[in-house]
Amino acid sequence: MCSDILGIFINPEAHRALIDVLIARIKKYGDKVNAIAACEARGFIFGPQIALELKLPFIPVRKHGKLPGPVCVTEYELEYGNDTVEIQKNVLKPGNKVILLDDLLATGGTLSAAKRLIEQIGCEVLEIFVVIELLGLKGRERLNGNVSSLMHFSEQDLEELA
Ligand code: PRP
Ligand code: MG
Repeated sequence: MCSDILGIFINPEAHRALIDVLIARIKKYGDKVNAIAACEARGFIFGPQIALELKLPFIPVRKHGKLPGPVCVTEYELEYGNDTVEIQKNVLKPGNKVILLDDLLATGGTLSAAKRLIEQIGCEVLEIFVVIELLGLKGRERLNGNVSSLMHFSEQDLEELA
């Protein structure tokens, strides 16, 4: 299915290309970036590798109750009910500039909550990168357009690929 990035990692050349293109995009910020954050779970597949290659801290954004120690928390709405994202306290310092990653932008609920949480800590999200954007769900609007996608699919694209 086109909204699942896992196939990229089966092919080492595609994996390398994904990492290289994201690193090249992040490098345009020079030494302004203090940390790479990514959302559980699929953002963890490539986020730590990018952080390591850029010699930056990797900041995991996890769902409720999974991180050890004290955490900063924010809630977000799902279609039915609420969910929560958390970041460990003191892993980001106010004023830090952060690149935020995830595999997929759908409704934008996950990434808008992660961005809000990073901002509540007093940090700035320089840019959000996703591998795939589903245009029909308009997640970009919830992120005020501050998101770059490597691939995007319209509803018509999805019908043709089904
Ligand atoms: C999926 C995907 C994104 C999110 C996108 O995560 O990996 O994180 O949904 O949807 P949204 O834009 O509507 O928030 P999910 O929690 O379903 O699964 P995962 O734990 O495998 O990443
Ligand atoms: Mg996810």
